[in-house]
Amino acid sequence: MTPSFPQPATAAAARPIPGSYGPPLLGPLRDRLDYFWFQGPEEFFRRRAMEHKSTVFRANIPPTFPFFVGVDPRVVAVVDAAAFTALFDPSLVDKGDVLIGPYVPSLSFTGGTRVGVYLDTDDPLHAQTKSFSIDLLRRAARNWAAEFRAAVEDMLVVVESDLDNSTSDSPSANYIIPLQNCIFRFLCKALVGADPAAEGIVDRFGVYILDVWLGLQLVPTQKVGVIPQPLEELLLHSFPLPSFVVKPGYDILYRFVEKHGADAVSVAEKEHGISREDAINNILFVLGFNAFGGFSVFLPFLIMEIGKPGRDGLRRRLRDEVRRVLTNSGGNSGEAGFAAVREMAMVRSTVYEVLRMQPPVPLQFGRARRSFALRSHGGVNYEVEKGELLCGYQPMAMRDPAVFDRPDEFLPERFLGDDGEKLLQFVYWSNGPETGEPSPGNKQCAAKEVVVATACMLVAELFRRYDDFECDGTSFTKLEKKELTPPSPSPS
Ligand code: HEM
Repeated sequence: MTPSFPQPATAAAARPIPGSYGPPLLGPLRDRLDYFWFQGPEEFFRRRAMEHKSTVFRANIPPTFPFFVGVDPRVVAVVDAAAFTALFDPSLVDKGDVLIGPYVPSLSFTGGTRVGVYLDTDDPLHAQTKSFSIDLLRRAARNWAAEFRAAVEDMLVVVESDLDNSTSDSPSANYIIPLQNCIFRFLCKALVGADPAAEGIVDRFGVYILDVWLGLQLVPTQKVGVIPQPLEELLLHSFPLPSFVVKPGYDILYRFVEKHGADAVSVAEKEHGISREDAINNILFVLGFNAFGGFSVFLPFLIMEIGKPGRDGLRRRLRDEVRRVLTNSGGNSGEAGFAAVREMAMVRSTVYEVLRMQPPVPLQFGRARRSFALRSHGGVNYEVEKGELLCGYQPMAMRDPAVFDRPDEFLPERFLGDDGEKLLQFVYWSNGPETGEPSPGNKQCAAKEVVVATACMLVAELFRRYDDFECDGTSFTKLEKKELTPPSPSPS
């Protein structure tokens, strides 16, 4: 279902898109420095929207200059909820080779295969690989919840022990690596049917290989912030990063999937007509980039938001809901699976609100297939020329005041009830409305449903185990174990 916006009876004439790309080299360089350094992505888009008094405007997007040969940084930025929907319309935009913008990392990162996520819907190979991903997820559904719960349990044992052993005056335990281990192990088992424990090297280093592999592809487009900015600009944002560094690691994961995920590979070959090599490279991309990468960004946002000091009221509400639903679903021994989390309305609403405020993949791109009028609010149309690259910035589109009340506030109950449900059409994190359905004919995230359910399961597991918890950024500072109900006094 596509979002609907009120339109005036008569459409306005198409207007030119405001903004300019500036002089060659200098314009892109100035925008790049603003984006990474002087302003940061959020301010970059907000300022330009204010300057041009428009939610559609021209700008340059990194990476640019001097060694990104053939990368054209000129984009049409789109930051309102109405115009953003053009990016979901396969008849308007071509999604070939624009996953992370005008820059495409070398095919050597994916074993020479052009994986499905980089293919446009017009390419028959897109439907083939997308159907395979959907099939993988369908098959994975059987073990998904149980594998996830087991991995979360392992993670919490580690962080609890780290917190107990913390000798600092204000004890804390960082959860990033335990969480990434949890995500990696459960995904390998549930999605690919391959247990990392079967290969010591994968078990120990799989997460680090994927982190480096992801970093080398994404860093040219991301603000990193771990070294002084001038050095970051010089060393990390001026040229494509090489794939050979991670090739030995990629090969280890390739052989792991080939051997231990043989059933998944065989499904790709026999039921979807994908060659063995392309199947393994596609599995590795979906596993490492989409799934591991996506959860590694999103789940920390979720834990951090719920665990913020001062959010005791929210946590109490979530805990009560989780425990009530789990107690009532006693038939399934009180475990948080897909059915149970469907009944946790408050948990779900909170998960949607985190996805609205902090979409894990903030930018979406699409190239105009033809010239068309890009519709914004109130019947305002912008002239987009064939071949122009649209760049949607989700954090602004999903705080569009024309759609959301108090758009900049975190309101975890926002999506409750009938009115709340109506707002789901404007939640775009999956590269499509939350009311839409991923299919071989569109580019919406294949795992749209499963991502939300998994996030709800994490919240449920936390409150099944703890009465309360608190975080300081990516560290737990308090994990208050659930109090055991005292045994009822025996009659004397
Ligand atoms: C929090 C986790 C995840 C996030 C935030 C996320 C987000 C996204 C986004 C934004 C896209 C669209 C990219 C674009 O074309 O602009 C996408 C596509 C995709 N995602 Fe996810 N994803 C997540 C997890 C997963 C998982 C677990 C799978 C497992 C199968 C998956 C499979 C895919 C596939 C196959 C596509 C490509 C769709 C196509 O080419 O038509 N994603 N995802």
